[in-house]
Amino acid sequence: MNSDRYYSTKAQKMESSKIREISKIIAERDIISLAGGMPSPSSFPIEIVSELSEQLLKEKGAEALQYGTTTGYRKLKEVIARRLNENFDMSVNGENILVTSGAQQALYLVGKVFVERDDEVVVEAPTYASMLQILQELGGDVSDIELEKDGFAVDKFKKYLENGGNPKLSYFVPTFQNPSGITTSLRKRQKLVDLAEAHDFLIVEDDPYHQLRYSGGSVPPIYSVDDNNRTIYVGTLSKLLAPGLRVGWIAARQEFIDKLQLAKQPVDLCTNVFSQHLAYRYLKGDIVDRQIEKIKNLYRAKRDHMLDALQEFLPEKVDWTSPKGGMFIWLTLPEDIDAEEMFQDALDEGVAYVPGSIFYANSPKKNTLRLNFTFVDEKEITEGVKRLGRLIEEIIDRS
Ligand SMILES: Cc1ncc(COP(=O)(O)O)c(C=O)c1O
Repeated sequence: MNSDRYYSTKAQKMESSKIREISKIIAERDIISLAGGMPSPSSFPIEIVSELSEQLLKEKGAEALQYGTTTGYRKLKEVIARRLNENFDMSVNGENILVTSGAQQALYLVGKVFVERDDEVVVEAPTYASMLQILQELGGDVSDIELEKDGFAVDKFKKYLENGGNPKLSYFVPTFQNPSGITTSLRKRQKLVDLAEAHDFLIVEDDPYHQLRYSGGSVPPIYSVDDNNRTIYVGTLSKLLAPGLRVGWIAARQEFIDKLQLAKQPVDLCTNVFSQHLAYRYLKGDIVDRQIEKIKNLYRAKRDHMLDALQEFLPEKVDWTSPKGGMFIWLTLPEDIDAEEMFQDALDEGVAYVPGSIFYANSPKKNTLRLNFTFVDEKEITEGVKRLGRLIEEIIDRS
């Protein structure tokens, strides 16, 4: 059967996420994976989830197992709004929140509502690869703005706008970015907000890592410095509780939420109601705060361990970022080393990473790669970085 003829044009153009393919290869072999973007299994509060689930089933079992409203469980929306106001000085209420099946669905819905074929969208270079997958599916015309040590190159963005760039939407992961670990400075956030107002475009702020800060002072979300309400804020419990529960949210002006919930209705009717009730119980008191402290201590040690290992085992010609939070470190190899070509050799050495090229909308920097420090234990971090260092050194010696 020629199945191609049955597929929609959209389906014919779909491509698998490279990270998902890499994960499959790794799972089949005995390899230290610094590739994935997964939390540490020891960060999951299994006992707490077990107790909360038991309470929930006893007290509100029928409600938690029933369909829910598309915008989300009212009490959860209210507690999310309260936390955003308390933690980030936002001024939102439950009506400004749409609960989603993870941040990923939030991004997809934003794409569906705002991006039409050939619409101009600006992203960082590099950026979150799964957002690129969404924009590719929707046929957006994606331009990218280089990332500097203190965030995206706002002056280049300004020039691009002055030279006729006319985006409808811009997308940023401004805090402990996936993949680079870079945090955009407050000054640049403020400039971005001014540019958005002057040139009439929207800002999508994807912020899954904000509360995972291991050092340095906090920087407010773009949403909090945007008095014009042009920012659509995306949050998630994936890194603060567990990704398997699939609870995320959008905070935005109410008219956007109304439209986004219309886009969600045919997708899944509602987010997993049981997970939403659990999330509410997790967020309403201080359980979440105590858990965040635990996760931060766990990941701070892992980050420090990886930074020390990079210092010890990588050749001098390699540069890397020193993130103050999040889950990733970004490596820049000498210009002539292609991390994609090196990937197979790395697997043969028993270590995996994500080649940086997949994180670029245009003109990939092939000598870059992403390392994750949260999933593996400290022994594996040392051994994985050692193997990587040995391989890079061999390649430099050969050339
Ligand atoms: C920047 C970014 N956005 C969105 C997501 C998706 O998160 P969720 O598990 O909430 O769908 C991730 C997950 O790694 C991410 O790094």
